[in-house]
Amino acid sequence: MTEPCTYIIFGATGNLSREKLMPALYHLEVAGRLPPGTIILAIGRRPWNHDQWIAEVRDMLVTKLRKANQELDETLFAERFQARLHYFEGDLTKSAMYQGLQNRLTTDPLFPPNMAFYMAIPPDQFGTTVEHLSTVGLLKEEANVWRRVVVEKPFGSDLESAHNLQRQLSKHLHENQIYRIDHYLGKATVQNVLVFRFANLMLEPLWNRHYIDHIQISHSETVGVGSRANYYDSAGSLRDMIQSHLLQVLSLVAMEPPVSMEAEALRDEKVKVLKSIRPIPLNAVHAHAVRAQYTADTLQGQKVKGYLQEDNVPKNSVTETYAAMKLFIDNWRWKGVPFYLRTGKRLATSQSMVGICFKQPPQQFFKPSQLQQMRPNWILLGIQPKECLKAELTVKESGLEMNTRPLSLDASLPHNEEDLKDAYQGLLLDIIEGDRSLFLRQDEVESAWQVVDPILRVWATERDYIPTYLAGSWGPKESQRLFEREDQTWRHSMFINE
Ligand code: BG6
Repeated sequence: MTEPCTYIIFGATGNLSREKLMPALYHLEVAGRLPPGTIILAIGRRPWNHDQWIAEVRDMLVTKLRKANQELDETLFAERFQARLHYFEGDLTKSAMYQGLQNRLTTDPLFPPNMAFYMAIPPDQFGTTVEHLSTVGLLKEEANVWRRVVVEKPFGSDLESAHNLQRQLSKHLHENQIYRIDHYLGKATVQNVLVFRFANLMLEPLWNRHYIDHIQISHSETVGVGSRANYYDSAGSLRDMIQSHLLQVLSLVAMEPPVSMEAEALRDEKVKVLKSIRPIPLNAVHAHAVRAQYTADTLQGQKVKGYLQEDNVPKNSVTETYAAMKLFIDNWRWKGVPFYLRTGKRLATSQSMVGICFKQPPQQFFKPSQLQQMRPNWILLGIQPKECLKAELTVKESGLEMNTRPLSLDASLPHNEEDLKDAYQGLLLDIIEGDRSLFLRQDEVESAWQVVDPILRVWATERDYIPTYLAGSWGPKESQRLFEREDQTWRHSMFINE
């Protein structure tokens, strides 16, 4: 059994904690996966006492569960979960707070000495918070006692700042104490990319430039920026989604077989992919990337605001809420195969998928007419809302004529209720178990910044204008220009006829 630990959450009253961390910890409790004696200590500025904090967490969980049509298990909450919840009032920017925290953590036997410090706070506070923790001795490991720091993305805001942040962190932490989280790696289908590719020999001979026409990786959301404008307006979707989550998916789809499934072996191969991505010259940014911002319209029957009308968004903001890019991986396996990545808020549906489009057979015996091409084969990996795996083939229609039609082999993955929970659950457990294979190494983070940096630099100079798209649409028409050929286009659906 894993040893108990103290989970210390900085930013425990914020959006991430409400939406992801507290619900994930609660679900781990339901599943009986939190080691007995594990304590969750929230750090916050508000003057709450213990009972107020318990009521606050209860409220967070009820709200979150209601969205999924679920109810809080009141007995479990009262008898097990709330005993783990504690609150420590303090201001992150004040050194006295850390002294008080150290005192409480090291003198009260309630708190297990293994500690995970979770930075659910604005990125510009990571460095100083770690420094303060180190000054009061809370990051010092001893025999059989570990201290770990979990850093949320964005890890820096460009290559240089990521590098500087790392310099700050590495003064106080060994690399094996740092857990750079990318919650996309906790999603079942993302992990399934590894199993699909490396547990099945059948596809490996086809998984390369000789057979694959292009690859699309797409994450769309119907939600807007919500209450996160303070963070989002300085980030934009290229930093928020592509630099992190989508490039991680790309590296799993494109990597070579690792020596083993150990953390270092996996990360070595992912880094190789990121390093093989062809750098985008500044003067070619427009051919490789498109950005846009949503404007007001109707989405799923509801009128929604445009980005510029959202709370806390500056009226002249040119921050992108949609980003798409094309990139090439210059290695033996992928040379010449375009990878198209896109993401956006307030798009037509919420969906994440990887689409692998195969080339046409050398001779098209069965094409429907002189003008029409046959439909290419696709392999689709559905990440969310439904985890699934589909392969689209062409088959003969029944009847006397030699007519063909596309057919989708649908391997929707059956799972029980437990498997459907959020990606954070598994990752929060990995942290206490010391498994870093699904966390990022610094060179991965820097290589990913290297890929998007030229785009960020050019967009930063273009402050006068940004293309727009209507909320509820599939994004700006400009994104079509990224495609190498006319017969390539965005794949919006996991279904053949949509
Ligand atoms: C986060 C981004 O990392 O991922 C959000 O900051 C985005 O803007 C979210 O909405 C998407 O992940 P998920 O798992 O909620 O679909």
